Amino acid sequence: SAILCLNGPNLNLLGQREPGIYGQITLARIEQRLRAAAEPMGLDLIFAQSNAEHVLIDQIHRAPTDGVVFMIFNPAAFTHSSIALRDAILAVNLPFIEVHLSNVHAREPFRAQSYFSDIAMGVISGLGADGYELAFIAAQNYLRSTNT
Ligand code: DQA
Repeated sequence: SAILCLNGPNLNLLGQREPGIYGQITLARIEQRLRAAAEPMGLDLIFAQSNAEHVLIDQIHRAPTDGVVFMIFNPAAFTHSSIALRDAILAVNLPFIEVHLSNVHAREPFRAQSYFSDIAMGVISGLGADGYELAFIAAQNYLRSTNT
């Protein structure tokens, strides 16, 4: 079985994009860190990023056939706008943790609104790249508890 780590628009620019808010770490480095955590657990990691809503939707649609049993999802700006992505997750009924590098509650008021938080297993926001690894630990514990 696999864990899907899915990343939304502009996250390909991590490292150069508003470093005061998102930090110096690149998405490639975040992927490396997650792979290092996944390997000893014998879990497959599918790591993906897209700037296009439909590409993210398609990735979620094929998650069950890809063997994905859990998702770590940073929807980026789609957090605050995408009913279509919310519906895609509900359609495949995939448990997930919503992750944000920045603390969305300490920024513009529109970032406090999420189309995902109420259907997520949990939400991690404001812990930078550590949030992905913490989500991974929680995913592992969840999968262990459900014998997946
Ligand atoms: C983000 C927060 C969003 O509000 C923003 O649009 C992003 C990144 C984060 O990881 O902090 O692109 O999801």
